[in-house]
Amino acid sequence: MTAVLLAGAGPAAGQQAAAGAEGSPAAEDRIAAVLGISGDPAYGEYLGGECVTCHQQSGASSGIPPVVGHEEDYLVRALVEYQLGLRSNQVMNMITSRLGEEEIAALAAYFAGLDPD
Ligand code: HEC
Repeated sequence: MTAVLLAGAGPAAGQQAAAGAEGSPAAEDRIAAVLGISGDPAYGEYLGGECVTCHQQSGASSGIPPVVGHEEDYLVRALVEYQLGLRSNQVMNMITSRLGEEEIAALAAYFAGLDPD
């Protein structure tokens, strides 16, 4: 438990990871942990209200890539990679910094279950 917390600790850790730690053990561990949780789509819908102010619910891309129409494991990986700074985007880095594993699982379950229009 401590190891997981330390691995993701603080902005400095994220910045270093952004320098090119693709496939980092910390990310793989967290992705596996989140995929082991069965996400609650209803909770994901509740949390996802914020996401669709930018990402279109229809799955259309308007300069911002869609979150609808992806597999659950793709979404989990993307969110964890933003959270750990392996993917670098200010907005998504900030948004994912507030998400726990339960939240990421719920969001992925919800958005993966929606069909793009
Ligand atoms: C303020 C606008 C904004 C909000 C709110 C927002 N996003 Fe994003 N999101 C973006 C942008 C911009 C990108 C593209 C970033 C990049 O180029 O890496 C992105 C990228 C993503 C991606 C990667 C898509 C891909 O094709 O790989 C996922 C997944 C994602 N967001 C999920 C979410 C979820 C889930 C939420 C809500 C918890 C959320 N976003 C909230 C703007 C936003």
